[in-house]
Amino acid sequence: MRVLVTGGAGYIGSHTLVPLLRAGHEVLVYDNYATSSPEALARVRQLANRDLAVVEGDIRDLALLDRTFASFRPDAVIHFAGLKAVGESHSQPLEYYAQNIAGSITLLQCMAQNGCTQIVFSSSATVYGEPDYLPYDEHHPLRPQSPYGRSKLMIETIIRDWTSANAGARAILLRYFNPVGAHPSGRIGEDPLGTPNNLMPYIAQVAIGRREALLVHGDDYDTRDGTGERDYIHVEDLARAHLAALDSLDRIDGCEAINVGTGQSATVLEMVAAFERASGRSVPYRIGPRRPGDVARMCADVAKARALMGWQAELGLDAMCSATWQWQSRNPTGYAPEVERD
Ligand code: NAD
Ligand code: UD1
Repeated sequence: MRVLVTGGAGYIGSHTLVPLLRAGHEVLVYDNYATSSPEALARVRQLANRDLAVVEGDIRDLALLDRTFASFRPDAVIHFAGLKAVGESHSQPLEYYAQNIAGSITLLQCMAQNGCTQIVFSSSATVYGEPDYLPYDEHHPLRPQSPYGRSKLMIETIIRDWTSANAGARAILLRYFNPVGAHPSGRIGEDPLGTPNNLMPYIAQVAIGRREALLVHGDDYDTRDGTGERDYIHVEDLARAHLAALDSLDRIDGCEAINVGTGQSATVLEMVAAFERASGRSVPYRIGPRRPGDVARMCADVAKARALMGWQAELGLDAMCSATWQWQSRNPTGYAPEVERD
């Protein structure tokens, strides 16, 4: 299959490219490197031992994107490109709506103009909001609590309407839970800009000595040890889910939203303990107040992913932590040379 991958240089995109190339697909990455580095793509080529085409551009650039579609003629699109920092989306909502929503509309227009009818979209479990019940299944009400989350829900709606309006158009909306981990080689991984917002990269930077201690956001939740519980999924499992989604597109009708998680959840303190085991380093932490907007627990019902795509997660916390440690210890400052980083 010829697959156009928006945002392919990013964390989840780069991990998906490796099995995609190894499976023999022809790939073109379309990315403006807003939150990523071309170095990730260089390493993907080495890991997959295959080449891929790259166009540097913004998904809102209709003319460039249209030219790219016309010359590459993709059979399907995997759409990762977008902004994803929840806190930043509260202070810059228009930027989030412009990049995520306007960018996705431009992409769908180019697909329509060029006869491309299949898309796999990176959505997020954040579309569910405060749980009415757990685990969340795909019928759970959708009440996202941030401009970022609302942008994801709006894109889901736009894609659904697009598939309804176009006979033969098909879409899978993958609702990721908490992606963590790295390629086991330690060559590619998550490389957040500045201070990490998310738990796993923060823990990894504490373990390597770039940060002093983890601040645990609250220990008074109604969970096993009082700290927040999440459904962490290994990025390698998540990468495989994209291949399963591509294979499933011609078996579905219209548009399907599918949870991508493990069905298990771990607390913050369980993550710290697992990381200490995997790295052999200590991870000092302090307990702080709750982070506004956080829920106590999130966990995926994964039955639909199994039934519809024949996919399920295979890797557990220890594999997630040891792969993250491989990446962090081999690349203490991510893709940037050490002198360029804080
Ligand atoms: P990332 O920031 O590492 O990757 C995003 C990629 O998109 C980057 O390479 C960036 O340069 C590119 N990009 C951003 N805006 C662009 C634009 N306007 N035009 C072209 N390229 C653009 O993020 P990620 O963690 O790999 O996430 C990928 C997708 O998955 C995002 O849509 C994100 O919202 C979604 N998602 C991520 C998580 C997570 O925890 N990582 C969870 C749920 C959903
Ligand atoms: C966050 C986003 C969510 C997004 C997801 C992607 C918010 C409110 N939600 O989810 O929209 O889809 O990232 O991965 O930002 N924690 C600490 N200390 C830290 C960092 C995190 O204790 O320094 C705790 C959090 O309180 C939470 C858990 O670790 O209980 C996981 O946090 P995080 O990695 O930020 O993910 P989410 O909050 O689930």
